Amino acid sequence: MCGIIGCTGVKCASEILYKGLEDLEYRGYDSAGIAVLEGGRITAVKKKGRVYALKRAAEQLCGTSGIGHTRWATHGRPSDENAHPHTYGGFSVVHNGIIENYAELKEELIAEGHTFSSQTDSEVVVHLLSKYYRGDLKEAVLAAVRRLKGAFALCILCSRYEGFVAVKYRNPIIVGAGGEALYAASDMPALAGLAESVAVLRDGQIAFASDGKISFCNFSGEPESLTFSPVPAAARGARLCGFPHYMIKEINEIPAAVKNTVHAFTDDKCFSVISRAAKKRGGFKDILLCGCGTAYHSALAAAYFAEDILGVPARAETAGEFRYRKSAAGAGTLFVAVSQSGETADTVEAARAAKEAGAFVLAVTNVPYSALTGIADAVVPVRAGTEVCVAATKSYCGQVAALALVIASLKGGSVYPRMIEELKDIESKCAAAISDCGVEAAARACASSSGVYFIGRGIDYPVALEGSLKLKEVSYVPGEGYPAGELKHGTIALIDGGTLTVAMITDRKLGEKTASAVEQIYSRGGRAAVVCASGCAPKTLLERAEFFIEVPSCKSCLSPIVSVIPLQLIAYRTAVILGRDPDKPRNLAKSVTVE
Ligand code: G6P
Repeated sequence: MCGIIGCTGVKCASEILYKGLEDLEYRGYDSAGIAVLEGGRITAVKKKGRVYALKRAAEQLCGTSGIGHTRWATHGRPSDENAHPHTYGGFSVVHNGIIENYAELKEELIAEGHTFSSQTDSEVVVHLLSKYYRGDLKEAVLAAVRRLKGAFALCILCSRYEGFVAVKYRNPIIVGAGGEALYAASDMPALAGLAESVAVLRDGQIAFASDGKISFCNFSGEPESLTFSPVPAAARGARLCGFPHYMIKEINEIPAAVKNTVHAFTDDKCFSVISRAAKKRGGFKDILLCGCGTAYHSALAAAYFAEDILGVPARAETAGEFRYRKSAAGAGTLFVAVSQSGETADTVEAARAAKEAGAFVLAVTNVPYSALTGIADAVVPVRAGTEVCVAATKSYCGQVAALALVIASLKGGSVYPRMIEELKDIESKCAAAISDCGVEAAARACASSSGVYFIGRGIDYPVALEGSLKLKEVSYVPGEGYPAGELKHGTIALIDGGTLTVAMITDRKLGEKTASAVEQIYSRGGRAAVVCASGCAPKTLLERAEFFIEVPSCKSCLSPIVSVIPLQLIAYRTAVILGRDPDKPRNLAKSVTVE
């Protein structure tokens, strides 16, 4: 959700910044901009649209210090004027986050004679800097940040300072060093090819980078120290490696994501950490799982199998809802925060709230140095590798694997080693599901439908939700995921010959029940298709289906890892058939760091 970058001490700042913005583009692609400092003058270029729209203008700039931004619009529509950097009175600023008190600050500054040129909340920052600057940059930065409410990661350029300033409050910023050069960026992969060592700024810290040196202070101006360490291997950026899109590349990486997640769980001794935490509390009374988007769907799948395996109440909730309601989470609660990025504002704040309520907070995340890991009592790594496509695929499968291991650890006995063995088997089942060739006809059917509804019962319901989300986000074909039994309570009103319903069946016991829901669709003139585990769907259902795809059957709690794959592939192919960009769907961003 907005990517920011800064550099100093480099040969050509604009070249570095442009390349960095390409790596950060998954965070938002409404507009992009760069400002550089050359001979005590700031020059900025900014453009609505994707980063490549900036290429020509960026090539005209050089300078040895600069800042850059790629935007996901919150305040002010995507336009050239609302693009960052915002430049005023010898300062230029890029911002990730939301300045909640911007309206009152703007009013105050306008009354003092400042002229604004955008509708953004962010522009107030550059005006505050110019207001407070009396020849001392540090004083101006401190005075400005103390006026801000909300969430902000900033990179600042000042025409009288050969370098940049980075500020962190609630949104991420990482600083890096390589030779004489210093950098800052919203995430590690953008720095991976540039910096040799990195340090993650903590909330309320400011970095001043100039002349090959970097110093830190807090918002009171007191010096702080930060330790640099080598760029972690997990932060390596990703490349397409011959695939046409990251989405299909990342689906192909699912077997490796599951395998590496299982290894990480054992390497990091997660079993002992979890069982010790449970023992200390005399066992957890209840389990609460939170996440957003796809991470919420893996949390929901885990809630189903947690109750099944452990027999304790387990519930999944979207993090944005959990935050703002009175919850019963307490000292006996295991709170599991699931997030690919570990940065999603709602999930991070939900984890903070659960911790304050006394719960034991477990973070299940793909990013080991994320904000979520800083809050959690313990971390269970997902090792899906860098995920670039905005729509999550391999991270979902990694999350379900990690969550199954968490629950097996809580159960103990022979369940844990058996789960490890089952997960080893899953890798080849995933590979078989990826190579299925029935997807093309399915995608053509979805592309020509006015709506696609996914239905399932039990563990298939969270997968139906995820299948529907995937299709909507990358192809824009409308639809919904529904519990199969709920269809007749409303959604059936939407069924006609233009709609397609995809029934998910991976549990033989529930096959006949879901088949009855499909009969109701046929009776209303609707079309239906089936995605099932082999041997689980009634033969008569498959004979009548517009298409059916079979995946290898496996243990119920792990079935979402395999059964989601055809749905991801269908979404991908539907997007391609309809001429959409599956990696960067309209209006979305991969990392949602604002509320
Ligand atoms: C955004 C992305 C989704 C993702 C969700 C949660 O909405 O577009 O793909 O599932 O954020 O992200 P997280 O990093 O917390 O898993």
